[in-house]
Amino acid sequence: MDIVPACHPFQEPMPDTPSSSPLHLPTELAAFSDLATRRRTSLLMDRERPVPGELVTRLCRLATWAPNHKKTWPWRFAVLTGDSRARLGELTCEQLIDEGVTDETKLVKALGKYMRSPTVVMVAAAAHDNPDLHRENRDAVAAAVQTFLLGATAAGLASFWASGAPLRSSAVRELCGFDATDRIVALVYLGWPNGEVELPKRPEPVIHFIVD
Ligand SMILES: Cc1cc2nc3c(=O)[nH]c(=O)nc-3n(C[C@H](O)[C@H](O)[C@H](O)COP(=O)(O)O)c2cc1C
Repeated sequence: MDIVPACHPFQEPMPDTPSSSPLHLPTELAAFSDLATRRRTSLLMDRERPVPGELVTRLCRLATWAPNHKKTWPWRFAVLTGDSRARLGELTCEQLIDEGVTDETKLVKALGKYMRSPTVVMVAAAAHDNPDLHRENRDAVAAAVQTFLLGATAAGLASFWASGAPLRSSAVRELCGFDATDRIVALVYLGWPNGEVELPKRPEPVIHFIVD
């Protein structure tokens, strides 16, 4: 596979970077690049086709291979299927009302929102007494979420990392079986794809190569 350097010999090109001189990437990196660039935030999924629990468990296990300073193992997962997704919608609606939202269209939308995928995975970060580790626990969980998404992509699943009102709801935390001090980092919609979303453009990263 010929890959073209964008601004440094070992930097991979952005997908739409014009080519000049080819760079031969190791096969494993080329395969990983393909996976990482293929992962898309997509809700184009079959609502009726279940995702096997064993597969979700496997993805959660994979996620725990994310880096974790001081090995605090901060990730917490909750897997919502069936009617629990409707309950998630109700609690999200209540959270929005508590926050002063009165727009009926918005509230009705929140009610049915989580039925759009057969599985919703909530990922939370445990608290820590040390303020630095408390912050880093969230960083580690964000890394775990990305590992989860990449695993999902490799498994042929569509996924969507969402945030918003459910992440701020103590009732949602309780529904998920999380501790009161856990912070919800991500709500991941998960399902089998039934369409493809457009590739969003990525601007060139700002990179400073400091040599002296
Ligand atoms: C912390 C975080 C929160 C996000 N929350 C939302 C969200 O609430 N709604 C949404 O449409 N996308 C959300 N996204 C997904 C981004 O919109 C998406 O990653 C971006 O549009 C780029 O598309 P891609 O993931 O397909 O490359 C979130 C992503 C992250 C990392």
